[in-house]
Amino acid sequence: MQIAIDGPAGAGKSTIAKKLAAVYGMTYLDTGAMYRCIAHCVLNQGDNFDDTDDIIRLAKEAEISFEGDRVFCNNKEVTKEIRTPLVSRHTSDVARIKEVRELLVIQQRKFAKDHSVVMDGRDIGSVVLPEADFKFFLDADVLERARRRKKELEERGIVKNLENLKNEIQQRDDNDRNRTEGPLVKVKDAIVIDTTGKSIKEVCDIMRSYIDGVK
Ligand code: C5P
Repeated sequence: MQIAIDGPAGAGKSTIAKKLAAVYGMTYLDTGAMYRCIAHCVLNQGDNFDDTDDIIRLAKEAEISFEGDRVFCNNKEVTKEIRTPLVSRHTSDVARIKEVRELLVIQQRKFAKDHSVVMDGRDIGSVVLPEADFKFFLDADVLERARRRKKELEERGIVKNLENLKNEIQQRDDNDRNRTEGPLVKVKDAIVIDTTGKSIKEVCDIMRSYIDGVK
């Protein structure tokens, strides 16, 4: 079975994807973490986001793997490093590059061939798994998404101003929506859920009602 979950930053995709994967005994693939790994490699290699050829080279060399919630890139654990605000800001710079997307989409499709997957990202229902059994698009009010991100960062000891976070999220969404390759889109056959004001359990229950065929 394949479940695709797309949506803007902070809509609750990864938390919910993990829960659904646990409920249905499926494997979760965090495709955002893969793009983040490439941005992290670029930052480690001198921070030049204008050198597209070099970014493509780094993406070709990058060996990304997962062990539960842990993320590894080139045999080094990068779980925490790829979640910093700096990496978040730069990930859309690498995610707009066609060749980078092609490389990662191949790996994501291969993963879906070998596993029953819940995959979250921006282009899962549109590009990676257009034949997915279920396609969800999670959205939420931008201020609520910024609040959730603030809380998440604080739990990791990072304090950020709410207004700045909101602006960053909006900028990231604009970049993701307006790029030519694999933009963030709501596909026609996606089930759209507005998670504003809903708990994780409520959103999961709604999704389960579709998956279990109640709805
Ligand atoms: O999901 P997450 O917020 O970790 O994604 C970080 C960034 O990775 C997104 O803002 C987007 O630029 C990129 N991304 C993407 N396609 C995906 C998943 C993430 O372009 N399938």
